[in-house]
Amino acid sequence: MLSSRSGFLVVAILTAFAVEDQASGQNEAPPRARPPRTETARGEWVASLRDRYAQPPAEWPAPHVERDVAWRELGRLPPVEHPGDNPHSPAKEQLGKSLFFEPRLSASGEMACATCHDPDLAWADGRTVSFGHLRKPLARNAPTIRNVAFQPSLFWDGRAASIEAQVEAVLLNPAEMHVTPEHVVKVLSDSARYREMFTQAFGDPEITFDRTAQALACFQRTVVGGHSRFDRFLAGDRAVLTDQELIGLDLFRREARCMNCHHGPLFSDGQFHDLGLSYYGRSLEDLGRFEVTHEAADVGRFRTPSLRDVTRTRPLMHNGLFELSGVLAMYNVGMVAIKRPAHQHDDPLFPVKSPLLKPLGLNRQDLADLEAFLGALEEPRRRVRPPSAAPQ
Ligand code: HEC
Ligand code: HEC
Repeated sequence: MLSSRSGFLVVAILTAFAVEDQASGQNEAPPRARPPRTETARGEWVASLRDRYAQPPAEWPAPHVERDVAWRELGRLPPVEHPGDNPHSPAKEQLGKSLFFEPRLSASGEMACATCHDPDLAWADGRTVSFGHLRKPLARNAPTIRNVAFQPSLFWDGRAASIEAQVEAVLLNPAEMHVTPEHVVKVLSDSARYREMFTQAFGDPEITFDRTAQALACFQRTVVGGHSRFDRFLAGDRAVLTDQELIGLDLFRREARCMNCHHGPLFSDGQFHDLGLSYYGRSLEDLGRFEVTHEAADVGRFRTPSLRDVTRTRPLMHNGLFELSGVLAMYNVGMVAIKRPAHQHDDPLFPVKSPLLKPLGLNRQDLADLEAFLGALEEPRRRVRPPSAAPQ
């Protein structure tokens, strides 16, 4: 709910900053919130939305998106496609699951993938930024691994093109698991149980770094959602959303403009956008996609995250500095417009906030409705049992 003071504090701070639009240099007055609907008007509004959203999605009201946005309707997740060079098998999935919970895959022997992607914390870690090797904080917030099977690129900056490549990067990263391929092969080969599991998964007992990554990737592709109440709504159970959630759905698709970037079954366009959170030139600076492409236009851009289960993966954004009500309050003012300091006036790398963000003028009730809709994307809690004991 937006009854918390913090949401308003954020708005107050942001509107104080929102004096100059970075892209145009125009002054931009903070938008005036539209007046709330009366109870009667709200009742009539809900009734009309019930009618319109009882239709198949192709007949829903058109979303508010800019003309050049290749949007896709929200929808149910398709079945996962495992790649031809890493096909799924139950034995490989099981091996990958064991490895996911295996602390011996880290140099310290104490950190597993599940330390930062904990199934009880929606496959994230609930921290602003994760603790890495020797408890040194990492630069970014740990995203959930649920539904990574559907992401066209991995990491906040999209620097890995496949889950296999992503796994290898995490294992070798000195700030994270901090191991060498030789170390991984050695610790796993020392275990009779892993030798057995690799045999079952790959047909022979050879243990390699690539196979380890393949099994981990295979397991992660099986961690998928798609069981939220919104999914039941899409499947035809139109009564499952409350009035407030239904209004929130309509806001999400239209007045709140979220569909410009969060669209399709994953609620993500898989693209990179600058929301103005790169802290350019300041101590928390993170240039995002620029660090991969080295193109000026990519400074401050991050991959649009999925919003499925987002109410459980707090804190939010690549830096983990935000809560949901604060995020919505920021979108409502069109995000922060950072004033270009004089010494950065001619700086070609100065980040440019996405032109898709505009002040929305939503009122408190609207923001609460929007937040309620995001709550309908929560996955039911399912207990994931870590493999019983460290395999011998
Ligand atoms: C110390 C904490 C930590 C550990 C341990 C860890 N991760 Fe991560 N993981 C992160 C962080 C932080 C990110 C985001 C980094 C970035 O985007 O630059 C991330 C990103 C990912 C992503 C990308 C998700 C997306 O939406 O793009 C996947 C997949 C992933 N990790 C899987 C793994 C696997 C598999 C392991 C074990 C081999 C592992 N992680 C170990 C913290 C961790
Ligand atoms: C211009 C594209 C764009 C639009 C429009 C947009 N988003 Fe986002 N959204 C993003 C990107 C990119 C991020 C990640 C930014 C970062 O971490 O720096 C993000 C992050 C988020 C997050 C945090 C998710 C997480 O896991 O940390 C939430 C929640 C969110 N958006 C909700 C919304 C809602 C609700 C709307 C409509 C009011 C909206 N977004 C409109 C691109 C967009």
